[in-house]
Amino acid sequence: MDTIERDTRTGFDLARTGPGTLMGRFMRRFWIPVHRAEDLPQGHAKPIHIMERASPFPPYPAPVTEGLIETQTQLVPCNWLQCFENSMDEVHVAFVHRIGGSHSGIYDLPEIGAEETDWGMLRTGTRDGQVRISLHYMPNCTRVIVPPMAGLEGAGGWRELYLAFTPIDDETNRWFITNLVGVSGAAKETYLEKRDQYRRKQATMGPAEELAREVMAGRVRFAEIEHPDRVRVQDIAVQAGQGAIADRSNERLGRSDAAIILWRKILERELRAMDQGRKLKQWKPAPADVVPTLGF
Ligand SMILES: [Fe+2]
Repeated sequence: MDTIERDTRTGFDLARTGPGTLMGRFMRRFWIPVHRAEDLPQGHAKPIHIMERASPFPPYPAPVTEGLIETQTQLVPCNWLQCFENSMDEVHVAFVHRIGGSHSGIYDLPEIGAEETDWGMLRTGTRDGQVRISLHYMPNCTRVIVPPMAGLEGAGGWRELYLAFTPIDDETNRWFITNLVGVSGAAKETYLEKRDQYRRKQATMGPAEELAREVMAGRVRFAEIEHPDRVRVQDIAVQAGQGAIADRSNERLGRSDAAIILWRKILERELRAMDQGRKLKQWKPAPADVVPTLGF
């Protein structure tokens, strides 16, 4: 059992990334996604409200398998860290995503393992001897195998996802999502037809964020959600529902929080070194052959 106070035992604030803050100075040492290329008209400038921008690119390796690349963004009305930490919490799918059945196959509670690497953290979830691997790239990106959204009705199957949580300000973050959908040839054409239907449903139903606000206000129950991005509605509701910046002062982290505990210890160590003017760890790009796995 471990307990991390709101600003951590050592007094470091891991949530706030504004100019001059320790966490902000730490985050600015890394490459951070700020905009989706397909949203930038050719020849146009795009003013960006974001950190002082860039470390060497690319920061993490490309997928090793073939497929269709899709990108999405999502604005979420809460602090970046509680979203990032949720992505490290494999156990949450058994509670948050059971309604709708999206994550069938990993609802049994796993034994969680986590180890620090040269590039971040490798996390495992073990069920009946089968190991599901997920990766967390320093400072804010999760690479994991996830199911398709509800509105795709299974099309494309479980896909590889890179999810970067970029702080816009301390109470808002934007998700930059890159999916590798494992389809090619005729299967790709079938998938694209289904994706068109899914996108029409998206346009009809409105943003997931708005429906999540209805859930947080108590006007809609999880069981009533028919949104094509039901999983995203569920995630935003439980992450932003903790408040704009989660109050961690009464947390009691346990065995299933092993990955979150380790990540905070890494950040505390690095921020302490920065605060004391000592040398920080030199993070490296991850090797291409360390990949996430489905695990069932
Ligand atoms: Fe989730």
